[in-house]
Amino acid sequence: MKTHLVAPSVLAADFTHLQKEFDLVNRSRADWFHVDIMDGRFVPNISFGMFIVGFMKKMAQKPLDVHLMIVEPEKYIEDFRQAGADVITVHYEACPHLHRTLQQIRETGAKAGVALNPATPVHLLEDILEETDLVLVMSVNPGFGGQKFIYHAIPKIRKLKQMIIEQNAKTLIEVDGGVGLQNAEKLLQAGADVLVAGSSIFKSENPEETIARLKEIGAPAYYV
Ligand code: DX5
Ligand code: ZN
Repeated sequence: MKTHLVAPSVLAADFTHLQKEFDLVNRSRADWFHVDIMDGRFVPNISFGMFIVGFMKKMAQKPLDVHLMIVEPEKYIEDFRQAGADVITVHYEACPHLHRTLQQIRETGAKAGVALNPATPVHLLEDILEETDLVLVMSVNPGFGGQKFIYHAIPKIRKLKQMIIEQNAKTLIEVDGGVGLQNAEKLLQAGADVLVAGSSIFKSENPEETIARLKEIGAPAYYV
């Protein structure tokens, strides 16, 4: 039986004790580290770049799932791969030549993901699913942690899951933004495979236990 993955978003971690936060995730039941890269152009916020990702790679004992919220991501794919990214996700809205960009990611040996902003419909991915290892459905507007979940992400995930089944594709569905124990079950039932959670994990009283609880939520029918 395949179960869903949990990817804590390190943006919500305490950066004054980053090693401690990484150790917590390393010993927890989490599957990936979700790493948010923001450039102040694609989104109205700046986080950090490949130099810091390189340090994170040294601290992480689990794959780095790198979410590029940047314009012209094709210019930096090789750098992020070198820094240690295992999954590289670019935004649909930032890629006029998405097919080429996804191929570029796969050529580096990383898994290739596409992220959709809340206003971008899933049907736009119909002709590119085969080239896509993962689709990240944004359930907040990208740029900041700790925002309120946008409910419309649920029907989007359902629709996307249908497309994936119809095409017999292997693409994973990841959901990012405002995810926590309160909505995880609904998201998994809709078809999500990877839950990204920042504040709901790191701001909780016992992050390790929150991760365990997110992992324990019942697997949807698809996986049985
Ligand atoms: C938002 C980022 C998310 C964010 C999630 O732009 O892509 O990964 O860190 O944070 P929470 O879970 O707090 O909404
Ligand atoms: Zn993210």
